[in-house]
This record gives sequence, structure tokens and C-alpha cells, in this order.
Amino acid sequence: MSLVIKNLDAPLGAEISGRDLSKPIAPNEVKTIEDVWRERLVVVFHDQKLSDPQLIAFSKNFGELDPPGPNPYGESFLKDHPELNVISNVVENGKPIGNLGDGEAVWHADMTYVEVPPKAAMLHSLEVPPPEAGGNTYFANMLAAYEALPAELKEAAKDKIAVHDASTNSAGMLRKGYKAVKDVRETVGAHHPLIRTEPTTGRKALFLGRRPNAYVLGLEVSKSEALLDALWAHATQPRFTLCHRWKAGDLLMWNNLSVLHRRDPFDPKTRRVMHRSQIKGNERIH
Ligand code: OGA
Ligand code: MN
Repeated sequence: MSLVIKNLDAPLGAEISGRDLSKPIAPNEVKTIEDVWRERLVVVFHDQKLSDPQLIAFSKNFGELDPPGPNPYGESFLKDHPELNVISNVVENGKPIGNLGDGEAVWHADMTYVEVPPKAAMLHSLEVPPPEAGGNTYFANMLAAYEALPAELKEAAKDKIAVHDASTNSAGMLRKGYKAVKDVRETVGAHHPLIRTEPTTGRKALFLGRRPNAYVLGLEVSKSEALLDALWAHATQPRFTLCHRWKAGDLLMWNNLSVLHRRDPFDPKTRRVMHRSQIKGNERIH
């Protein structure tokens, strides 16, 4: 059966159906998926049921796996597959089985606090809360946000470099081995330009990473805060976003360098379990 592609009614996102991803994927199918991922930035598959080895095998079609960043607990969630991550609120025998808990995950891109951040992430839902319990995930198109940026903000962001905080995750938890940031001029993390140019297409995108503890190098703190606040307010407007309401068996693959994502909090009495991979990037941001 061949892949069926349907663009979602949003400024990014496409659904691909007609394929059981637990089975090996042909090179022409990999290319089709990659093309949709490059153009639509978020690819949604439904009704999948991948074991960890199958998730790894599917992910490797798109490049080398990038292991998870440090989590608050200092050890990997899947002993047999440390190259995968778990996103979950479930606690078993007093120990969280995954990261990010049940609260909001603020807008972010993944691991932009390293020099060469992952280019793609895959998130596969195994268990999800009922629809009314929350836990939706949102994606924002940073190519569209750049294009629509008012001229004065484009000018203010041009050639500016920001530091991307490594100390806390998107749920606001301190990662193991990091100190809380007290002064943004001392934030530890990679330095990247606020505006990124996609090497293959030449398209420009806002590259914001995450708001907490960010700092625009060379500016007074108040000026840096004002510029970042203005860019973030612009970039996360609903007109640039897609809302994903999860069902068990979804697999989402996003373009980590051209989208931001965030997650709604959800009812702590419900279970949400997702297994996750990411693909190594091959570019410094410029
Ligand atoms: C992630 C992430 C949000 C969610 O996997 O990188 O931010 O919906 N997940 O759990
Ligand atoms: Mn994330």
C-alpha cells in the first residue's frame, strides 16, 4: 500500500497514512516522508504500535540517533534502550518512568542548548489521557513567523546571537548537574543566531530555543529581555500554530530546527506514556 499524504488545516503539519511503520520502509518512502517533513515541518501518523526496537529502526531511516539530554534523575529511563527517551507522568515504585511530569511544558525546541541540536524528534504515544483531560501538544512554524515579522523586529534580531539555557527542561525542572540561573548574563548553554538560514533551501526561520534564562549577547539585560519578549510574543501567536490532540498509537515527527512546541498540563490522575527518539543534526545554526 502506498503512502497517503494529507496536509492539515493549519500553517504546518501533514498526516501520512497507509503504512504500518513497524515494517521496513523502502528508500522511496523514506524520501517521501522526508520531503513532507521538510515542507510541512510536522508529520502525523496514526494507528501505529511500535516496539522500542521498531521505533529505533524507523527513526534510523532519517539519520543517526541522538541520545536524550540529561534528565532531572541522572539515569536513562529505558535501561535496554538508552538511545530512547520516555515522556511520562507515571510513577512506579516511587520512581518516575519518564520525563516532564503532568504540568505544562513551555514553548521550546529540543536541546538547542547544544552546539549541534537534533534536527528531528519522533514522539510515539503508547497511553494518553482521555480527550478532556488535557495534554495536547502545539507546534509553531518558525519559517512563517520569520516571514511575518515586522520590519523593525527583523532588523533588531538580525545578526544577534543568543545563549540557550541548558539548566532547566521545558517543565521547569533543573537537569542533574546544573545550577539554577540567577543572572541571564551567566546562563550556560550554546550560542546561536536568533535567525537561522536553512542550508538546503536558504529559507530563514526564527530560532528561539526556549525563553527562560535566554539572553541576547552584547545587550543590556533590559534590552535583551524586551527584544526576546517581543520575538516570543510574535512567534507563538495562534496564526502560526497547530494543535495536536493525541490518541494512543500516534507517531509525530517534527522538524526541530524550524518549529517550537509546547504541551498543555493534564489531569495528574490520568496516565500519559510516550516513547521518543531524535535524529542528530548535521549543521551548526547559522
Ligand atoms: C518532547 C516534548 C511534549 C509532550 O517530547 O520533546 O516536548 O507533548 N513533549 O509531551
Ligand atoms: Mn520537547
